[in-house]
Amino acid sequence: MTGSFEGKVALVTGATSGIGRATAIAFGRQGASVVVAGRREAEGFETVAQIEALGAAAKFVQTDVSRSADVENMVRTAVLTYGKLDCAINNASVGWPSGLKRLHEYSEAEWYEVSDINEKGVWLCMRSELKQMLHQEPDGDAGLRGVITNVGSVASLRAGPTAPYTASKHAVLGLTRSAALEYGRDAIRVNALCPGVVQTDMVNPGVTVPTEMAEMFVAANRLGRWGKPDEIADAILYSCSDESTFMTGHALVIDGGLSA
Ligand SMILES: NC(=O)c1ccc[n+]([C@@H]2O[C@H](COP(=O)([O-])OP(=O)(O)OC[C@H]3O[C@@H](n4cnc5c(N)ncnc54)[C@H](O)[C@@H]3O)[C@@H](O)[C@H]2O)c1
Repeated sequence: MTGSFEGKVALVTGATSGIGRATAIAFGRQGASVVVAGRREAEGFETVAQIEALGAAAKFVQTDVSRSADVENMVRTAVLTYGKLDCAINNASVGWPSGLKRLHEYSEAEWYEVSDINEKGVWLCMRSELKQMLHQEPDGDAGLRGVITNVGSVASLRAGPTAPYTASKHAVLGLTRSAALEYGRDAIRVNALCPGVVQTDMVNPGVTVPTEMAEMFVAANRLGRWGKPDEIADAILYSCSDESTFMTGHALVIDGGLSA
């Protein structure tokens, strides 16, 4: 990738760990000013410290993406701090907080526990980000007002672990495609990044998934190994860069060949 993010402002939700943290740091490495959004304060400040150590600017905004007031504050803080919002990465998500169960075993509360964050949270973020981007002047050779990348999953395109998670990740792709159609003429690009199995807290053998299930996921990867958060971060930066200015409404699958 040759594009630089010097002078750009990037916002990443769920930047307190895993893919979100790797993405926030990658933006900082490329010279962007980074808004680090997430629920956990200590982990958020740790991401900020890692970006500042690279010589870039970063600010933590404590945000629960399922709460509209938090999300509005997140975007407002980004604009008050850095003056604009060029790239928004809606990455925050939960997996299966009430466990791996069959569809009929979930309660209504357990269903909403996932969809509130993974589906409504992405919509709330896009709503605030799009309102801001629509007010910005077109910028750069491609004349864009902004770029949004939503982090979906291979489970945005096919069945993944648990019905609530799979349904919510299909919704992320639906939101992405819908927004790409609605805001293309406003010079705003919207894409989804669909990772395969990546070594993070969400897929932790023996903790969040049975070890045999993790081994099965990895065995299904044609490259025969876990994905790394940095490998997803690189693709997210590409989706926001001047190397992908004609890409919108796209589901960019980065999965080591899992879905091949
Ligand atoms: N790890 C994988 O194998 C994998 C595969 C496909 C998709 N993904 C997606 O990648 C993204 C990042 O996940 P990860 O693998 O880095 O796992 P992770 O658990 O490390 O990251 C998820 C982050 O979202 C945050 N979060 C959860 N609920 C939140 C809320 N309400 N408000 C704000 N932040 C919240 C968590 O605290 C955490 O920091 C997610 O969208 C996930 O669905 C991961």
